[in-house]
Amino acid sequence: MNFGRLFKSKPTPRIASSPPFNYLELRSKPYYIVGSVEVGNTTTKCVLTATDMTTGKTFIVNKTVKMTRDVRRPKAGEDVFAHTINGTPLTKESIAELVKNTLIESHERARLDIKTDLHFVVRSTGVVAELDSPDQVGTFIQALAKGCLDAGVPPRLMTPAMSIHNILEKFRRYTMIEKVIFMGAVASCFPPQGSTGVEVVANEMEGELATAGIKEGSRWTDVDFRNPCLSMDFGTTLDGRVTSEELPYAHTIGNLLGLAGAIPDAVVQGTGLVDKMTGATLDIFDGKTKPDYGKEAQQYADQINDLVKIEKVPLSRTKYGLVPVCPEAAAGNNVVLIGCDVGINGSDLSKLSSVGSDLYQSKSLKILFGTLDLAMAKVASRLVQVGVEEGIVTKNTAIGVTGRAGISGNKPSLIIEEIEKLGLYDQPEKNVVFVDDGLARGAAVMARCMNSMGTPKNPLGGLRGGRCILKERMDYESSKSSAPVPQLDRPEDDTQAYFVGGHKRN
Ligand SMILES: Nc1ncnc2c1ncn2[C@@H]1O[C@H](COP(=O)(O)OP(=O)(O)OP(=O)(O)O)[C@@H](O)[C@H]1O
Ligand SMILES: [Mg+2]
Repeated sequence: MNFGRLFKSKPTPRIASSPPFNYLELRSKPYYIVGSVEVGNTTTKCVLTATDMTTGKTFIVNKTVKMTRDVRRPKAGEDVFAHTINGTPLTKESIAELVKNTLIESHERARLDIKTDLHFVVRSTGVVAELDSPDQVGTFIQALAKGCLDAGVPPRLMTPAMSIHNILEKFRRYTMIEKVIFMGAVASCFPPQGSTGVEVVANEMEGELATAGIKEGSRWTDVDFRNPCLSMDFGTTLDGRVTSEELPYAHTIGNLLGLAGAIPDAVVQGTGLVDKMTGATLDIFDGKTKPDYGKEAQQYADQINDLVKIEKVPLSRTKYGLVPVCPEAAAGNNVVLIGCDVGINGSDLSKLSSVGSDLYQSKSLKILFGTLDLAMAKVASRLVQVGVEEGIVTKNTAIGVTGRAGISGNKPSLIIEEIEKLGLYDQPEKNVVFVDDGLARGAAVMARCMNSMGTPKNPLGGLRGGRCILKERMDYESSKSSAPVPQLDRPEDDTQAYFVGGHKRN
């Protein structure tokens, strides 16, 4: 018998550390400050990051989080153009107000000035359930622009620089804008948009940001999370990408979408501990209650997973897990859509609430938390499993997880255990990384990519184990006669546009 294996200690999950930011260095070091404004189904956030341009490492300077359900009610005459998954009505004006207040509060707390200290703002949203097609996310992003402008953000901080003259003097030595054009690959990966110009999934931008953010976050660990990789962002909804193993730029060969935190939320809504409609796991999570992972928790987790459907999205669907998709466009672009749903577009969420009700009436909070951790770990490994079955995930693929519903509690250890069972890796802990605030970190990466700023000595681009690809990028670009030409004379006020992979979409 192999005793080494029998007594093997549990692997330690690699969780990117997030050391506190030293404000005293703000003036002495070249820090690039980016605001990530995110309106999610559960939370609305402004996350301010500072990236040290010499190392490419990103620090969280401030994170101001509000509950989206606390947005002010629509006023008479306003057009309700979206609802969160739980039914909170949103108008352009109410979102703009929420965003404005969150941005201002975040800057006040960080003692930064919006007009003079901030270098870039990236806007994103997970509130896509009500859109009829993936393309419509642009309208929402435009509403976010209003909030940013109202808060005093200069319009030029929302669009790519495109020319060295638009880059602040102190950052000019860090940009390669005169050597490499930004061709739409953020952190070395093209978005899944082919010749048709049709978006394949409504929250592709979130997946792009999360992937880039996990790449940056992995720098704080010994996991090399470059291409090929698979990212999973467990917000209320799921987003993420699978990338190919190509140089200099990888392609998006998979997208993850559907329900994520909405699964534990539905369970918790059944317990009676939170509001039946808008309650969230976040409302009861305390970090002190030690979860129980015993037999009962496992049984409830199995019941939950029986209700959760994870599969390649069938061609017939226009929405999967409430997220608008275009499976035909995906197939045309060789992108596999991996979806997570409960019934059809959440039709069985009430069954999850019944599980929650049953669980809490007869058991305890410890078992509830244990159940949710076990259930989500299984969801994560099932998503990876579909990727393997579809041939887009191999032993070379690095896995990255971000978002509260994927990294809170003991989920990292449990996810490692589940992934170990798939038998993909000899050492899963060296191939799986957990990153907090992946999306905001990704916003910081995207801001720099749009301005051709990078750190060749510590690259995000390229392949796992490989070196910087600046030379390959230059060769590639000179070989492409059809390369997009930067618009040097684009008007400054282009805030109504939004950018996925830096490409203007409206
Ligand atoms: N301990 C926990 N266990 C499971 N889920 C949790 C836990 N804590 C928070 N969550 C869930 O994470 C989700 C919130 O995460 P986050 O704030 O990233 O989502 P969001 O940005 O509002 O959503 P989206 O961007 O998908 O619209 C909620 O569904 C919340 O209940
Ligand atoms: Mg989100």
